[in-house]
Amino acid sequence: MPSKDVDLFSRLYAGALDLKNRVVMAPMTRGRAADDGTPTELMAEYYAQRASAGLIITEGVYPCDMGKGYLRTPGICTDEQVDAWRQITDAVHAAGGVIVMQLMHAGRISDPSFLPGGATPVSASAVPARGESLTDAGPKPFVTPRAMTIDEIEEVIEDYRTATATALFAGFDGVELHAASGYLPEQFLCSRSNLRDDEYGGSLENRARFILELADAMASVRSGDYIGIKLAPEMVFNDIADDTPQDTYSYLVEQLNDYRLAYLHVAQFEASTDYHELLRPLFRGDAYLAGGNLTQASAEEMVRSGRADAAVFGNAFISNPDLPERFRHNAPLTEPDRDTFYTPGPKGYTDYPPMS
Ligand SMILES: Cc1cc2nc3c(=O)[nH]c(=O)nc-3n(C[C@H](O)[C@H](O)[C@H](O)COP(=O)(O)O)c2cc1C
Repeated sequence: MPSKDVDLFSRLYAGALDLKNRVVMAPMTRGRAADDGTPTELMAEYYAQRASAGLIITEGVYPCDMGKGYLRTPGICTDEQVDAWRQITDAVHAAGGVIVMQLMHAGRISDPSFLPGGATPVSASAVPARGESLTDAGPKPFVTPRAMTIDEIEEVIEDYRTATATALFAGFDGVELHAASGYLPEQFLCSRSNLRDDEYGGSLENRARFILELADAMASVRSGDYIGIKLAPEMVFNDIADDTPQDTYSYLVEQLNDYRLAYLHVAQFEASTDYHELLRPLFRGDAYLAGGNLTQASAEEMVRSGRADAAVFGNAFISNPDLPERFRHNAPLTEPDRDTFYTPGPKGYTDYPPMS
């Protein structure tokens, strides 16, 4: 409910998550993990620097080896990876932060060079995305993926269940299902990338089934109170497209209510409609997180008016590790350097200073 007493600095309870403010750090792939997907000490420093966020959502993390889609992205599959994530959650908690892991399976937005034994990427159907994968050997056109069998779908759902349990074991406060940006879950959801004629394709009910089963599996680990989901309707990134996005996302959100999730995170970009207005009233979980090109002023307006419970910032958190403090003091923001978004090492990663 709108309340004039609520602002970006108000506390927020979202399921099991206790946010000290409503300024949320967006999930952002930064390419600072080891080649084998093990998180690094540098990542612990980076996330701990940003612990003043009400909530940190990690970069996309692959739940199984076939989910890896980019260079130096982290996984949560091996003991080494789990131990390294534990260092990160400890560092963030020691700095007073709250952190959830985003699970991301790239599906067709991968390349054999990232996958075990040079395997062909998998997807809902054998429909390639237009565009290029940024591989070690330079940009390569996306390959035609292989359509997953029913057994493989069931296995991946189990991988998400296991990854969720493992993330909570590694000290994460919750787990977010990445169902945006044209990755595997959205490849099932959207009509142009899903041409299946079994129970995972065809009708809207069937196309949504994979995401709903993922949410169900993740919520089954402890409860929906530990789980959030990210959507970004009509985001054209990674060549994803749906013929009836308003119906598709409305249906999905209504069905997600069954799992009593902690939050729904919607990133809105240029689109045919205002999805915050469409989806927020449909969601009956605890908290609605809105993101996508927000400024302090627009975020403040959304939270004060009750259009969102919290505001999610991506770019601004890259270059302003103490973003909530800057907002509190109306301090100027530092612009991020795009050239170092995905490059290895501390430059453009942990070397942005806090406000002096
Ligand atoms: C460098 C970079 C990496 C990103 N990686 C991810 C990702 O791993 N998962 C995800 O859901 N979104 C990712 N995003 C999108 C952000 O979460 C966010 O939706 C987007 O940046 C819009 O918010 P902003 O305008 O405040 O930056 C990424 C964005 C940037 C800039």
